[in-house]
Amino acid sequence: MYRSHTCGELRPGHAGHEVTLAGWVHRRRDHGPLIFIDLRDRYGITQVVFDAALDGAAHAIASEVRSEYVVQIRGTVRLRPAEAHNPEIGTGTIEVSASGASILNAARQPPLYISRDGNEEEALRLRYRYLDLRRGRMQRNIILRHQIVKFIRDFLDHEGFLEIETPILMKSTPEGARDYLVPSRVHPGQFYALPQSPQQLKQLLMVAGFDRYFQIARCFRDEDQRADRQPEFTQLDLEMSFVDQEDILALMERLFVALAAAVVPHKRVVVPFPRLTYAEAMDRYGSDKPDLRYGLAFTDLRATVAGSSFAVLRDAVARGDAVRGMAVPGCAGYSRRQLDELVELARQAGARGLLWAAVPADGGEVRASFARQVPADELAAIVAALGGQPGDLLLIAADAPRVASASLDRLRRELAARLRLADPDHLAFAWVLEFPLLEWDAEEQRWQAVHHPFTAPLDEDRDLLASDPGRARAKAYDLVLNGFEAGGGSIRIHQRDVQQQLFDLLGVSRETAQEQFGHLLEAFEYGAPPHGGIAPGIDRLAMLFADEPTIREVMAFPKTQQAADAMLGAPSPVDERQLRELHIRLRQP
Ligand code: AMO
Repeated sequence: MYRSHTCGELRPGHAGHEVTLAGWVHRRRDHGPLIFIDLRDRYGITQVVFDAALDGAAHAIASEVRSEYVVQIRGTVRLRPAEAHNPEIGTGTIEVSASGASILNAARQPPLYISRDGNEEEALRLRYRYLDLRRGRMQRNIILRHQIVKFIRDFLDHEGFLEIETPILMKSTPEGARDYLVPSRVHPGQFYALPQSPQQLKQLLMVAGFDRYFQIARCFRDEDQRADRQPEFTQLDLEMSFVDQEDILALMERLFVALAAAVVPHKRVVVPFPRLTYAEAMDRYGSDKPDLRYGLAFTDLRATVAGSSFAVLRDAVARGDAVRGMAVPGCAGYSRRQLDELVELARQAGARGLLWAAVPADGGEVRASFARQVPADELAAIVAALGGQPGDLLLIAADAPRVASASLDRLRRELAARLRLADPDHLAFAWVLEFPLLEWDAEEQRWQAVHHPFTAPLDEDRDLLASDPGRARAKAYDLVLNGFEAGGGSIRIHQRDVQQQLFDLLGVSRETAQEQFGHLLEAFEYGAPPHGGIAPGIDRLAMLFADEPTIREVMAFPKTQQAADAMLGAPSPVDERQLRELHIRLRQP
């Protein structure tokens, strides 16, 4: 028997018990005849005392061990004197008085301190991930992730869902990113694609009659990495038959409310989840994934400034541009330099500029970057329209709607961060609905599907497909959480004629449709039920539940920002023989 208890288990009730523990040497304090070792495993830390007077042999071993040695100790549990209690750990009122010890394995001096939550370069942490994962923070994250997935599986099982695996060696699926390709040895010159998501297969499972499907599915997308993006990531992929949008939203809402209560009970969730249309989200927050833990919503100023004496504002309205502003509390005292910084941020997001006005906290005269261009009553009207209160800094963008949205969104996030407006213990779930079905690709001069080409239009917008496709809205929905897109889904097209109409709009020829989606189109001719689904990202959920800044912190072995595995050294060259078997000759770069 290697151990009788874990390192997180012993309590005052165990006093007097003989125990055996095994774990890693977290810390070692040598006071000559007394040596203290904090022994660690994933359950906790237990203090072990080696007294030369009590057991010379055990003490001798304790003087040999170093950080991260794997050791086994035997001893007796005893209460610590009150002044030695450690309230930080569960075992903080006891210690083990050692009567024997053996070194199970020595360890080299580790390149990172396990006992300190490191602020070293992430590259070093990823290179030695197995050591980084020994740290408390990472252990908590990995355990939380397990709890999330376990809860989801149990919940959906209870709701009558079946978990069904789908292949990893697949055919290209259009989710909008680049595919990872796998060459076939058996079929020279041909490739599998790793799934960007199991989208088409889950639709085929609906045709097969598995009306409630889910999968904790690994997805692969070759795209630029960000804090919330990895080349391979995990979705809760889900699809249902004989449902409409409401059924899916309601199920997800029940799932996430129960999940949060089970795994992060200290966090606040507001129900029902607020709902915004895509248009509202863009107008009010400049983003289709607004962080709703705080306000700073935008106000449309077009009516107020349509007749402005300031040409910049007047012309913007005349051109059909957006004129929007927000009131930021407590920032009226911003210095010239601080204001210039905000203008620069707006410019980085593509804006031509940024107008500002400051309403002094003491009730004095309003300062404004455009004070000389407008009469006092117009300035007052703008302040009033924005609901400007004493102490507020007002920021106004006049630009093409997309640009105004992007720049104000950037400022809204930046100022909320500076002012710490977001409560870290609030999980602000929300639904964004009624996404446009199509968007115009100016470069390629054709329509593109916003979600994917199987997304159904709203019933009331069906006729727009023929008359004004850009205005057609989709039965598509995103689950938004604290400023991130946590999940996306839609009701699918299940009728052949609607699908064909959409392919025609997208400029997908019959041959291309046949070649890319022939299997799905054919299946739909054999009795496809009405169906729809969603796919929340597990990594993003875990990141937000764990209050981590990136999804890498909740993945055991993530890739670097350059999509590489720093520990395994992947990707890596392969030998000539393997390439030949795969019928591949490399081009010189
Ligand atoms: P979508 O492409 O919106 O939808 O993806 C769903 C969710 O997956 C997560 N996600 C990612 N997480 C980490 N790294 C990435 N590179 C990454 N890309 C996406 C996000 C996102 O909201 N088949 C459809 C779903 C459906 O229609 O049912 C799909 O994949 O949380």
